[in-house]
Amino acid sequence: MASKEEKIDLILRPFRYDNDRLNDIMGRLHKEMEKGLKKETNPEATVKMLATYVRAVPDGTESGDFLALDLGGSNFRVLHVHIEKGAKDVRLQSDSYAIPESIMTGSGEQLFDYIADCMGKFLEKIEMKDKKMALGFTFSFPCKQQGLDCASLIKWTKGFSAAGVEGEDVVRLLRDAIKRRGDFDTDVVAVVNDTVGTMMACGLADHDCLIGLIVGTGSNACYMEKLDNVEIWEGDRGEPNQVVVNMEWGAFGEDGALDDLRTAYDREIDEHSINKGQQIYEKMISGMYMGELVRLVLLEMTKQMLVFGGRTSPDLETPGTFLTKYVSEIEEEPIGDMGPTMKILHSLGLKHATETDCGTVREVCRAVSTRAAHLVSAGISAIVNKMGRERVAVGVDGSVYKYHPHFKELMTQTIDKLTHSDVKLMLSEDGSGKGAALVTAVACRLAGNS
Ligand code: BGC
Repeated sequence: MASKEEKIDLILRPFRYDNDRLNDIMGRLHKEMEKGLKKETNPEATVKMLATYVRAVPDGTESGDFLALDLGGSNFRVLHVHIEKGAKDVRLQSDSYAIPESIMTGSGEQLFDYIADCMGKFLEKIEMKDKKMALGFTFSFPCKQQGLDCASLIKWTKGFSAAGVEGEDVVRLLRDAIKRRGDFDTDVVAVVNDTVGTMMACGLADHDCLIGLIVGTGSNACYMEKLDNVEIWEGDRGEPNQVVVNMEWGAFGEDGALDDLRTAYDREIDEHSINKGQQIYEKMISGMYMGELVRLVLLEMTKQMLVFGGRTSPDLETPGTFLTKYVSEIEEEPIGDMGPTMKILHSLGLKHATETDCGTVREVCRAVSTRAAHLVSAGISAIVNKMGRERVAVGVDGSVYKYHPHFKELMTQTIDKLTHSDVKLMLSEDGSGKGAALVTAVACRLAGNS
């Protein structure tokens, strides 16, 4: 009969990837990328490789005052960004507003009225309601862009489902909501994905920053691609011969390409999500699902009498109770000190947990977060190898990357094994909002307005 350790190992083994498996995943993603970039195959591609209208990075001559909005996670942010010529960073002030679930899942008009309402409050506070500023809108969902200031939402992801927005131009919805209020005015110049904003923000300090990555509530990446490789590009083909491609890699696997890697827990997460069958790769990686994956594994282990003496608690049986931030807190603990883990388990009603249980819980957290870091690394390595540059920097943002104690280190080691390039990971503070302002500033410069 298998020992307890062997049974635990059997449950966690599917989360552990060796190099061959990671290389295999890279190959599958590379195929999807090619499929997405080609006109003929794009309609069936899961990874849509959306061409943005961002083709130039800041050259340091931009300047001025800009507004930026950042919508994409559970908080909405409004930023006032001051850019000075030649500076390596920008000055900013910002406020963050929680988005109630009722707004995320209500009507589009309610959502955009809420956004405009927060903007009004912010402008009032910084006493700039009468100044008409150019605005960059970070909207972190898959959009088909028809121009820098025109983006129709393809589908909602993460926890959003506001009605009447899919298929619509989100810039028009924003402009309409601002008009409905009538107490301030702005000039919406650009709409960008958070990956693009992050890449642009890091580009100010490192001109080799040509990849943007988010590992937060959701996950996605973008990179600078040669126009010759982007058959789906519908804009002009003049210089510069490049465009940023928003990959929307979260959707990888929607056609079954990752089915052999998905565990029973991944399937259960998907089954109970509001976007069943969608964002398969994202559901194996991002913060919205990581804690829940750990909870499901622990439930199975309890059922098999491998932890907690076989006794669960009402909290452990309730979806969403094992927060993703617990994964970081538990893995941060020094070996031998079970204090924080024990505290978390107690807060979940598992007062009967033993020190051995704490060790097992940590092992589960480690398996789930390491798989996420491995999957992200395979994704980034596929991009790096496709670009074929000697050196490239990756601007990264998102709560999982930022707060997990080993994520960056694991990624650095894994990418090193999977590529031959010199890859630098750069944490981007406030990147997504800042980046929208930078894209706006570049557009204003090119249009001769700054
Ligand atoms: C969205 C992307 C976004 C990512 C990170 C995904 O769910 O589809 O557009 O970049 O989350 O926020």
